Amino acid sequence: MILVTGAGGKTGRALLAALAGRGLPARAFVRSAEQAASAHAAGAVETVTGDLMNPGNLARACAGCNQLYLICPNMHPAEESIGRAVIRAAQAAGVQKFVYHSVLHPQLEAMPHHWSKLRVEALVFESSLPFAILQPCAYMQNTLSQVEAIAAAGFMEVPYNLETRHSLVDLADVAAAAAEILASGAYTDGIYELAGPQALNQHDIAAALSAALGRPIAARQLPPKTWAARNPGLPEYARASLLAMFRHYDRHGLRGSPAVLAAILGRPPATFAQAAARLYG
Ligand SMILES: NC(=O)c1ccc[n+]([C@@H]2O[C@H](COP(=O)([O-])OP(=O)(O)OC[C@H]3O[C@@H](n4cnc5c(N)ncnc54)[C@H](OP(=O)(O)O)[C@@H]3O)[C@@H](O)[C@H]2O)c1
Repeated sequence: MILVTGAGGKTGRALLAALAGRGLPARAFVRSAEQAASAHAAGAVETVTGDLMNPGNLARACAGCNQLYLICPNMHPAEESIGRAVIRAAQAAGVQKFVYHSVLHPQLEAMPHHWSKLRVEALVFESSLPFAILQPCAYMQNTLSQVEAIAAAGFMEVPYNLETRHSLVDLADVAAAAAEILASGAYTDGIYELAGPQALNQHDIAAALSAALGRPIAARQLPPKTWAARNPGLPEYARASLLAMFRHYDRHGLRGSPAVLAAILGRPPATFAQAAARLYG
């Protein structure tokens, strides 16, 4: 049995579907009855409802699982302590393989949500558990999930330079790679960068959306202050981390090689145009 945490979220549901597709039984750790229903619908065979910050909930969730896939909540200030608690629970339950969903370039200290993942990676090494660490680039689905609003507006907006390049990756490919890493012993004790096949700027992304939607879509740059004013309710850590991420993206983008993902999948990873056509073509 594979315990998947954060299983009610975007990444978790994609992984549950990929595991179900391969006949690998998964127990979803979620934090509400609503998320339990969506985890079941995605393919979980069991669900456990609880809080990742609660050691008793974690012990209950881990019992009887031989593998654990740690997906931490997005932009969470306590990622390091959540990682420590989940590792302890996995050790106590005798989990045989610990897989951590990290991020591409966790070494970037200027982005707090990347840096905290580097700290969790170190805790994974220090746990002495057999492990695998996945380091995905930003998902294509972050943009594709907005496509109806983009189509209605005729433009997409980002709060950083339109020219910098990002190796966006298809979440379905990330989930397929994660399922392969859980299914096979070949990946134990390794770190895997998961990047898409093209380093795209925002004009490239807009062009791919234009082709998929059959109507012109422009890319526009939004001042970070305007973005912040439009998102007043964000928790402080998430707001500060996102602004730090936009500063990094503005200067450097986020680029990675698709070679590792292609090797795990045994095929080229999907392009943005292919993912867009699949969802909205
Ligand atoms: N999105 C990307 O492009 C990307 C790329 C690379 C890596 N990642 C990483 O992937 C991870 C998951 O991202 P995501 O986009 O899938 O996030 P998500 O959709 O927000 O999913 C996270 C899930 O964790 C749950 N959660 C939050 N706090 C919890 C707690 N205390 N106890 C139990 N569950 C809790 C959330 O529930 P609620 O909805 O109730 O809060 C949600 O269901 C993050 O660590 C992120 O950094 C994301």
